[in-house]
Amino acid sequence: MTASPVTAPAPAPSAPASEAPAASSAPSATPAPLAPTDTSGHEQVVFCSDPKSGLRAIISIHNTALGPALGGTRFYPYATEDEALADVLRLSRGMSYKNAVAGIPHGGGKAVIIGDPNSDKSPELLRAFGRFVESLGGRYVTACDVGTYVQDMDVVSETTRFATGRSPENGGAGDSSVLTAFGVFQGMRAAAQHLWGEPTLKGRRVGIAGVGKVGRILAGHLVEDGAQVVVTDVNAAAVDALKATHPGIESVSDVAALVRSELDVYAPCALGGALDDDTVDALKATIVCGGANNQLVTEGEGGTADRLVARGITYCPDFLVNAGGVIQVSDELLGFDFDRAKVGATAIFEHTLEVLRTADEHGTSPAAAADHIAEQRMAAGSPTIWLPTR
Ligand SMILES: NC(=O)c1ccc[n+]([C@@H]2O[C@H](COP(=O)([O-])OP(=O)(O)OC[C@H]3O[C@@H](n4cnc5c(N)ncnc54)[C@H](O)[C@@H]3O)[C@@H](O)[C@H]2O)c1
Repeated sequence: MTASPVTAPAPAPSAPASEAPAASSAPSATPAPLAPTDTSGHEQVVFCSDPKSGLRAIISIHNTALGPALGGTRFYPYATEDEALADVLRLSRGMSYKNAVAGIPHGGGKAVIIGDPNSDKSPELLRAFGRFVESLGGRYVTACDVGTYVQDMDVVSETTRFATGRSPENGGAGDSSVLTAFGVFQGMRAAAQHLWGEPTLKGRRVGIAGVGKVGRILAGHLVEDGAQVVVTDVNAAAVDALKATHPGIESVSDVAALVRSELDVYAPCALGGALDDDTVDALKATIVCGGANNQLVTEGEGGTADRLVARGITYCPDFLVNAGGVIQVSDELLGFDFDRAKVGATAIFEHTLEVLRTADEHGTSPAAAADHIAEQRMAAGSPTIWLPTR
């Protein structure tokens, strides 16, 4: 997201390595940024403590104008409670924008559990966390995030009705990467339509950085569509496995080599912070569209999104095109139906077209256009907080 009047995009001092720090570059005419731990732009922030199980968690509900807050639970060894608070405030706000642009009937929320998921996680702790989620009566619905997995949500769901991302055996939707990758592919098709007049990547050269759960499924869609695919991954086994399935796929040594190669589309599908200044300056691709979160290193006016515009590169906002996963877990609340969720993820094609057209019409970056659309939807939502119906 770009800068907002609600809270300044705030760097989380010790955010997980997979997340890019977001630096504010708000113009001097705007009010001074609020502290990263200022909760005033958020509806409700709940501190949770259960000494018996060792649980320390924070649940942040940013905005419920469009419905109950939905967003995952991050389990991470934050050094201080303030770091955890800054992270959950930033993440929950991001979910409000993501859910609004995705067109799902949910506001934005997120939870963080303070601790090392490898040593501090226990069924007792997850059940205690579930009780806190339950105490909110459905105002916050949880899911997986960094450090939490499908099997954890199965345990959380023992004590709350409001846990998604559960296993199919437990009534859940399971792995969200399938629809995340499918949604990214829809966003890419929309960008191709917008730029080249045809909703296809046929004959285009697409570079994918990171062929894990999302990247490798995306590669399959692209091969099927007739694109030339070139990939890179620090995990050689992931590249080998993909090439074994799709012998036509090429690979290069690393991300630096990939961004400097002749590409039509660049798809960051590894970690956050993919689009630093050096990368943007070196990119040969004319479209950037990938599944990785937090791709823009510098948010706000004059930041990475504007740098991409200046270079004539069409950027499909990450939180817009990677919403397939949240669309999937939101469907779980209705009793998961893959085909229905897929229809939702297919709509990412139209949503991306709308954002790219709006950006052109208003002379802004697609990131700013997506923020604007999300803010308009939230402003048109309920004027009061969402409450559970009896
Ligand atoms: N899985 C989902 O449903 C989902 C939903 C929304 C967003 N995302 C985001 O998409 C991205 C990918 O998610 P995933 O589930 O595929 O994760 P993953 O861990 O399965 O895959 C990431 C891949 O990137 C590779 N990688 C890491 N660092 C790299 C580097 N420097 N250069 C090249 N490759 C590198 C890893 O080896 C791995 O194969 C993440 O940013 C994630 O937050 C995922």
